[in-house]
Amino acid sequence: MAGQTGPEQALGEAKSLAIIMDGNGRWAARRGLPVAEGHREGTRALRRTVEAAIDLGVQSLTVYAFSTENWTRPAEEVRALMEIFGETIDRELPDLARQGVRTRFIGRHDRTPPELDERMRAMERQTEANDRLALWIAFDYGGRAELVAAARRLIEAGARPEEVDEALFASHLYAPELPDPDLLIRTSGELRISNFLLWQLAYSELVFVDTLWPDFGADDLRDALEAYASRRRRFGGR
Ligand code: IPE
Ligand code: IPE
Ligand code: MG
Repeated sequence: MAGQTGPEQALGEAKSLAIIMDGNGRWAARRGLPVAEGHREGTRALRRTVEAAIDLGVQSLTVYAFSTENWTRPAEEVRALMEIFGETIDRELPDLARQGVRTRFIGRHDRTPPELDERMRAMERQTEANDRLALWIAFDYGGRAELVAAARRLIEAGARPEEVDEALFASHLYAPELPDPDLLIRTSGELRISNFLLWQLAYSELVFVDTLWPDFGADDLRDALEAYASRRRRFGGR
């Protein structure tokens, strides 16, 4: 919506957002449904939220889809999640691509089922020319794993200790071009970071909402951006 003015533009200036999409299991349990149904409903919330983010002028959105620790869940739930991620790539993301969304994935690659990994790479290739909104999907992602991988790459690149600074370190993260989030939203009432974007969230504003992720939508996103707009960021200064 670049160049437009109007009520949408008056809202928060958060251009880079991150969301911990939490609460799918509780959403399903409250309805007496299998946990997979909560995850499936969660993919619909993702689509709604990306569309709302486009309308609200957000440029970059990073969502936590599957953590390095989520492999410890029951095998049946993990299997269902892999299937649902595949369905999301086939059914939801192409529609978002038509709306100008560029999708990329951050996280480990070595444990993803090869067929799913190939679909992820294909989606990245198919959307690389899109520039309306950058959607980063954190999959088999952990902040600590990302920092360890960055340290390993630095050493492999033969960096000398005295040349290692924040800029050089950040250039070895999974996606150096991913902007630090202005705002992190976590749904479902949990008040923690759960190993998400440990480097990038250093000075992000945090908004926690009780809404379970499958119920999240445009109004919740607008509320969070309004909350952000009333914050004063100091970055350690006066
Ligand atoms: C978030 O929902 C989705 C993933 C972690 C994959 P949860 O499945 O964690 O939902 P709750 O926290 O159990 O309600
Ligand atoms: C964080 O949620 C990971 C995702 C949303 C993908 P979890 O539900 O896994 O986090 P904890 O276990 O409550 O900290
Ligand atoms: Mg959870």
